[in-house]
Amino acid sequence: MTQKIYFIIVFIPIILYAVLGDQDVTDLCPTRKKNPIGHTCQKTCTKAQDCPRKRLKCLCDGECGMSCITPRSSCPWPVILENANTSLKQETWNFGDQMLVHCHPGYKMANGQEMAQSRCQGDKKWSVTAPCDVVSTCKDPPSIENGYFEKKGHLIEGAVIEYKCNAGYRLEGPVFTECLENKTWSNNAPICIKVYCPPPPEIKEGILVAVKKAEYEVSEVIYYMCKRNFLLDGSHSVTCMANGQWSDGPACRARCKVPVQRSQVIYRGQKVWVTEIEESLVHHSETVKFFCQNRTQACSYTAASQCFDGELQHPECYKEPTWVQYTFFPKNLVSEIPLCEEL
Ligand SMILES: *[C@@H]1O[C@H](CO)[C@@H](O)[C@H](O)[C@H]1NC(C)=O
Ligand SMILES: *[C@@H]1O[C@H](CO)[C@@H](O)[C@H](O)[C@H]1NC(C)=O
Ligand SMILES: *[C@@H]1O[C@H](CO)[C@@H](O)[C@H](O)[C@H]1NC(C)=O
Repeated sequence: MTQKIYFIIVFIPIILYAVLGDQDVTDLCPTRKKNPIGHTCQKTCTKAQDCPRKRLKCLCDGECGMSCITPRSSCPWPVILENANTSLKQETWNFGDQMLVHCHPGYKMANGQEMAQSRCQGDKKWSVTAPCDVVSTCKDPPSIENGYFEKKGHLIEGAVIEYKCNAGYRLEGPVFTECLENKTWSNNAPICIKVYCPPPPEIKEGILVAVKKAEYEVSEVIYYMCKRNFLLDGSHSVTCMANGQWSDGPACRARCKVPVQRSQVIYRGQKVWVTEIEESLVHHSETVKFFCQNRTQACSYTAASQCFDGELQHPECYKEPTWVQYTFFPKNLVSEIPLCEEL
């Protein structure tokens, strides 16, 4: 009794399937279309016996309807499509398998879809899907005077444009504008305003070598000179920069009076009496070496000092000789006795 029920439940459906299985599929499969696009149809069939060769099976091949197919035949993989990504719905790419075509952002198929399925056909080709095309393109944003924008690729939704001004102009307004869904731009175009520099700054003891104007254009160059006996420290010129400010200018540095009288010093590599130096003045940044006496020995050594913008002090070790020492014992002056290193 139990065996009988088991037979009915388990084996009858299997037998029925074996006999009727193929016919059920036939009912769902479309009848062959006349000239399906991109699909070469195989021999038509209604049952397995219609396909004479060994490995052929009577299977549904899309628009071609029931056809004699090699079930193991495969389609090419991977597939590279313009403006789209492809992926497989399963791990294989054999007859009947499905490939998904996803358009890149900003691209769509003619029917407005961003995705489509493709099927591996009996002719070993993927069924055709509509190509992905650019959709919703903005027109070029407005041009601006004395400025420009750079366009990279299609002006699709989400594309961002950056405005720039020509040299000598300053941008006022939004720098970026974005292509919106309704094909308009998110922002108004900015404007480019000419940049000017104010008159260049006065420099102490300096002279401006230029015609005085109320304003100067970007990249204009103005030269400076220093008054007599002042040394120009830094750049001879200033340039009007893109931000409307002048580049760093020079300073005019004063000469220094050598602060001793009754000694020789080393100046410009020569041992000279200070009175021999013109006006006892040395230039800004020049170095003067003074003679000092060794405390334990009757010999001298040198110590240097540098002139900085009118300031020159002798080293602490230097002692100015008295008038008597200078006048009556000139040979004993510290600057006249032998150097310690020469002993
Ligand atoms: C396409 O594939 C690339 C690389 O696998 C991935 O970075 C990108 O996000 C994919 N784009 C879409 C629209 O699926
Ligand atoms: C386009 O969309 C933006 C933001 O949604 C809106 O402000 C603008 O008025 C729209 N323009 C037109 C012409 O519809
Ligand atoms: C003075 O001379 C001695 C001996 O030559 C030497 O060791 C010392 O360093 C010198 N001192 C100075 C301040 O030059």
